[in-house]
Amino acid sequence: MGTDFDQNGLGIRLASPADAQGVLDVFAPYVRDTTVTFLSIVPSVEEYEAKITQILKLYPFLVCTNNDKVVGFAYASEMRSNDGYRWNVELSVYMDGGFQRRGMATALYTALFQILKIQGFVNLYAVIAVPNDASVALHKHFGFREVAVFENTGFKFGEWRDTVWMHHRLEGAIDPLEHGYPTAIGDINTKDIDNALDLAKALFKPA
Ligand SMILES: CC(C)(COP(=O)(O)OP(=O)(O)OC[C@H]1O[C@@H](n2cnc3c(N)ncnc32)[C@H](O)[C@@H]1OP(=O)(O)O)[C@@H](O)C(=O)NCCC(=O)NCCS
Repeated sequence: MGTDFDQNGLGIRLASPADAQGVLDVFAPYVRDTTVTFLSIVPSVEEYEAKITQILKLYPFLVCTNNDKVVGFAYASEMRSNDGYRWNVELSVYMDGGFQRRGMATALYTALFQILKIQGFVNLYAVIAVPNDASVALHKHFGFREVAVFENTGFKFGEWRDTVWMHHRLEGAIDPLEHGYPTAIGDINTKDIDNALDLAKALFKPA
């Protein structure tokens, strides 16, 4: 954490497996020191490269950067494996501690949701280990509403903890009966991805 903020050096793009180290630099402090994730062992770079590769087979994985250094990321992943759930995704979003409240998660989510909609996904879920006021507020800001509490479902730092599930149905989502399964991220028009990223960049807030 703690890289200097440079308004002119901000960017947002699709991730590649080569971003594994940068993503882990952001993610590792949350694994080691907090209960916002129930992961307690930081994955290796090789494990994370494999994870990014796996996610990008179908879903978008975005990073935001400051002078080319990864300072935040957001991705969608499988929510349940049965084929009837193919239009659902679970979300993840993490910002470096020095880059919060600058609209960067908003930019990541705005681009991510636009891309997910183009792909044909319908239902977005956030599974939030609580308390996590920032994450609950971010999701409410995007129109998510709380749909379930799983009590005492995750164990970290010697205590059982709850998760809150939040849900949002993408507005204008396609009709699966007409369009079939969602299109893989690698098969959608790159211009559509670039447009979504360009629109999102405008949401970064000045320091
Ligand atoms: C949650 C998180 C990703 C938000 O990222 P961010 O870039 O700071 O969020 P944004 O600046 O885009 O904020 C968008 C809105 O979310 C809400 N919000 C974000 N952080 C908040 C906070 N600490 N307290 C209250 N509301 C908050 C506000 O409504 C905010 O809009 P505003 O700034 O105009 O008031 C960030 O706090 C983070 O990385 N937290 C640790 C990791 C984590 O908990 N990830 C989610 C796991 S479920």
